[in-house]
Amino acid sequence: MTKEEKVEQLEAINAEVAACEKCPLHQGRTHTVPGEGNPNSPLLFIGEAPGFHEDQQGRPFVGAAGQFLESLLRSIGVSRRQVFIANVIKCRPPDNRDPEASEVSACNDYLDRQIAAIDPLVIVTLGRYSLNKFIPGQRISRIHGQPRRVGNRTVMPMYHPAAALHRGSLRREIEADFAKIPDVVRAARQLVHEQPDEPPPTIDPTPPPEQLSLL
Ligand code: URA
Ligand code: SF4
Repeated sequence: MTKEEKVEQLEAINAEVAACEKCPLHQGRTHTVPGEGNPNSPLLFIGEAPGFHEDQQGRPFVGAAGQFLESLLRSIGVSRRQVFIANVIKCRPPDNRDPEASEVSACNDYLDRQIAAIDPLVIVTLGRYSLNKFIPGQRISRIHGQPRRVGNRTVMPMYHPAAALHRGSLRREIEADFAKIPDVVRAARQLVHEQPDEPPPTIDPTPPPEQLSLL
């Protein structure tokens, strides 16, 4: 798919999300938060659901957890606009409560279509809701930082930055897990190159050259 086709699909999904009333969460939202970033990114980060600031701005990870996520990205030489950032749930749950299973399943199709459009090499799951979509029934504390193949992609489970931000031990874990990302992307890219039918992933030419070492 060309970048233009990806953008077209992602914008169509955004428009559907903006009008969506498939679950009760639509009632309390200020803005939908479909996700944003580079549609050609080999890396897709998936969080849980919008919080207060995300709901206000219609953008993912713009509050305290988002600032921490950005600093984690910077630690591996990546800026947030180079990657794609989305959530399992596109509307803010009241009082930031946990999403219900029925809400996750109502919203699931949007995320599946975003993944199909972006076609990332590596999906980084942030927190248990995102993890549960790809690797059900596993505890983050046991499998964080351990990439595994799920279908034709690599899934890298991580703690949620909001959980890790204020707990020293988890913070060190998520920092160490992030440091592994460049190698995980390289390994996933190697697998693609070993399959001669698949063209190598395209790279967005817009990011500044000093940040292209990984992506
Ligand atoms: N936490 C999330 O899981 N997603 C956001 O977008 C912000 C905070
Ligand atoms: Fe629709 Fe998802 Fe929002 Fe529910 S959370 S109203 S399914 S976009």
